[in-house]
Amino acid sequence: MSTSSSSAAERDFKREFLKNFFIVFFVLLICFSIFFLNHHGNNKYIIETLELNGSAEEGDAIFKINCVGCHGITARGLVGPDLHSITKRLNDKEIIKQVTGGLTPPMPSFEIDPVNMSNLLEYLHSLE
Ligand code: HEC
Repeated sequence: MSTSSSSAAERDFKREFLKNFFIVFFVLLICFSIFFLNHHGNNKYIIETLELNGSAEEGDAIFKINCVGCHGITARGLVGPDLHSITKRLNDKEIIKQVTGGLTPPMPSFEIDPVNMSNLLEYLHSLE
């Protein structure tokens, strides 16, 4: 009786086990890749935005088109909150997520390119 000789049933079991193990492993790998790519995409957008030097004037124009309906013409608040000193409470990354994320309905998510996002940030910084 040696321990190295396993029965056919045991071998089948091991084979099944390994097969399932690899299936689960690859499914998880694909999930993580998708998550990582998405996450990396977001970060790329944020990094690109933060590298730019926005113009508050341009940002003001973007604000007037997209945001005044809820935040008021002078950003003193309407349906949405007053945005003065917002840059003291939220960092730039958080503001970008607020504007592009759509995480706090009724505020919608905005599809805004990095240049305009950086202009908007500059405008919000000017509202001290
Ligand atoms: C449809 C209305 C609406 C529009 C349009 C809108 N917002 Fe908002 N916004 C809100 C509401 C409501 C909140 C509060 C969400 C919450 O915290 O629950 C908010 C929150 C915010 C906050 C976070 C404020 C805080 O005190 O945490 C920022 C920053 C902001 N909005 C910026 C913008 C900018 C910039 C635009 C234009 C690109 C915009 N919003 C357009 C409704 C709107």
